[in-house]
Amino acid sequence: MSEIDALLTENRRFPSPPAFQRVATVSDAAVATAAAADPDAYWVTMARQLEWITPFTKGLEWTAPFATWFRDGQLNVSTNCLDRHIRTARRNKAAIIFEGEPGDTRTLTYWQLYIEVCKFANVLRSLGVRKGDRVAIYLPMIPEAAVAMLACARIGAIHNVVFGGFSPESLRDRINDSQCRVLITADGGFRRGQVVPLKRNADAAMTDTPSIEHCVVVQRRAGAMSEETHAQMQDGRDAWWHRLMQKAPLQCEPAVMDAEDPLFILYTSGTTGKPKGIVHSTGGYLTGVTTTSRQVFDLKDDDVFWCTADVGWVTGHSYVVYGPLANGATCMLYEGAPDWPDKNRMWDMCERHGVTIFYTAPTAIRAFMKWGEKHPNQHDLSRLRLLGTVGEPINPEAWMWYHRVIGKERCPIVDTWWQTETGAIVISPLPGLTETKPGSATHPLPGYSVALVDTHAQPIPVGGGLLTITRPWPSMLRTIWGDPQRYVDTYFSKWPGRPDLYFAGDGAKLDDDGYWWILGRVDDVLNVAGHRIGTMEVESALVGHPSVAEAAVVGKDHELKGQAIAAFVTLREGFTATSALRDELREFVGEKIGAIAKPDDILFSADLPKTRSGKIMRRLLRDIAEGRALGDTTTLADPSVVAGLKEQYEAQES
Ligand code: PRX
Repeated sequence: MSEIDALLTENRRFPSPPAFQRVATVSDAAVATAAAADPDAYWVTMARQLEWITPFTKGLEWTAPFATWFRDGQLNVSTNCLDRHIRTARRNKAAIIFEGEPGDTRTLTYWQLYIEVCKFANVLRSLGVRKGDRVAIYLPMIPEAAVAMLACARIGAIHNVVFGGFSPESLRDRINDSQCRVLITADGGFRRGQVVPLKRNADAAMTDTPSIEHCVVVQRRAGAMSEETHAQMQDGRDAWWHRLMQKAPLQCEPAVMDAEDPLFILYTSGTTGKPKGIVHSTGGYLTGVTTTSRQVFDLKDDDVFWCTADVGWVTGHSYVVYGPLANGATCMLYEGAPDWPDKNRMWDMCERHGVTIFYTAPTAIRAFMKWGEKHPNQHDLSRLRLLGTVGEPINPEAWMWYHRVIGKERCPIVDTWWQTETGAIVISPLPGLTETKPGSATHPLPGYSVALVDTHAQPIPVGGGLLTITRPWPSMLRTIWGDPQRYVDTYFSKWPGRPDLYFAGDGAKLDDDGYWWILGRVDDVLNVAGHRIGTMEVESALVGHPSVAEAAVVGKDHELKGQAIAAFVTLREGFTATSALRDELREFVGEKIGAIAKPDDILFSADLPKTRSGKIMRRLLRDIAEGRALGDTTTLADPSVVAGLKEQYEAQES
């Protein structure tokens, strides 16, 4: 039985626990019914709950595929996340509870965070940053990351956060594409007991980023950095964060932003070699993340919400920083690895900090499962009341483990489907309402119009198809930075004559009860440990190596990571296939993109299976990498190539 069929025969059901339901923010299906009757009016009501400087009079305006929301309204995201709360009893409530990997902790109350943000916003202004300018942020998971993001929002600068695990080249490309004027980084960050040399990487990137005028460097831990990692400061360009902050004034007037002004750019992989700069708006984005945080995570004033994502990914933007803070919640921020110094780390932190809501990725859950129950069982997890997952399909077995071992059969699980492009959660259970099925993201949230369609855009009521969103939603991406045509081509051109249909790139199934089961990407995008990586990106990195003539990259099933990367490589004349070269290529991809993109397998081959028109048959390569019988090979120019490759691959594996 295939995994998909297995999923669809899943018939365990978990109603919302009565104890949870009694206190839940949403426990009445009327919300969804009202939203479905008039989604635009629903979002207008949600947006009105934010604090507006100039109230909007317009809701959705739509000339497919470009939409605007609340266009004539004005607001500031940082005042919604901070100033709103410091006027109330939340002033002294913890906004961020931070724990560094070495064990150092810091708690910032809403008041303290507000002061830090105002000061750093003044620092940015003193460096010449103005409304609309771009600022790159390349930091570990430390409070300064949230401070820097909110400070940009305060003065109307557009941030471009780059995940700290990305290489200097990836950082350089993202800075250059969006022409950032300032880069904010740290001398280093801690990961598995080692120092990640962020400033050294930033220096390498900045040899070729003409737009950068200033680099601000956070001193992560005085005295902790070695000679080698210690930041070399360049006069006139680089300055220490703490020095700049000493002189910064405490008051900072927030910029008055139009609802449609960009809040941030976040790069994500697509089907070409070049990552796309996804542009998110101010008013619509904040409406989406504030509403979904409140409904899906049921945030209450005494909760401690731990979303384990890094701020370098969209989950960190929407559910570590903006969504929870806009709701006045307390968020955990953890810098390091989940198994450092040992495999108790996450549960130890849940216990010590009294975490009540825990949101992580299936890949992490599968790792926890593998490490064994003894680790969580050594800790008191009784404060946990809600669990969440995101980033990739969760297999029912991992769901059940999460439910039993972490949630003690007491906590609802929200399996949340969304994307960098959607900005906020789209499909998810409402924990006080929805009966869940292990492995299903259940139903679209109120206000979203999601449809399953076939290749001709015809709706499919039950069965498998492509996931589309049929009406604009407030937190949708507005464009791709500098390339509106690519926005149209990528998301709204799948079905000619239907620029109103957003194509998500995912396949899904609807079961007889109308539950959604997300099956994963249908394009050339991989999902490795919940991280999006384009096959073309890895291929372009590989062909950048002098030994490589041609490369084809596919994803293969992986027990822990969901998918792993397998590369098929043809060498240039004069190069020999050796295991040393294989290691070198793996490292090379790591240097070009980042460690997450290193292929698990590299197979050298004299030829790649191609159609007579020269197209590489990735489908067959996937069959080989996953050890399946080969599919149809009749369209190949030379069918013997693929049989030879299969033999070689199997020999290498054994
Ligand atoms: O394939 C889907 C998968 O992750 C993709 C989006 O990746 P990214 O933009 O990096 O954002 C990840 C975090 C929001 C989707 O196209 N995905 C995300 N959540 C789920 C999922 N697949 C199945 N179930 C989910 N809950």
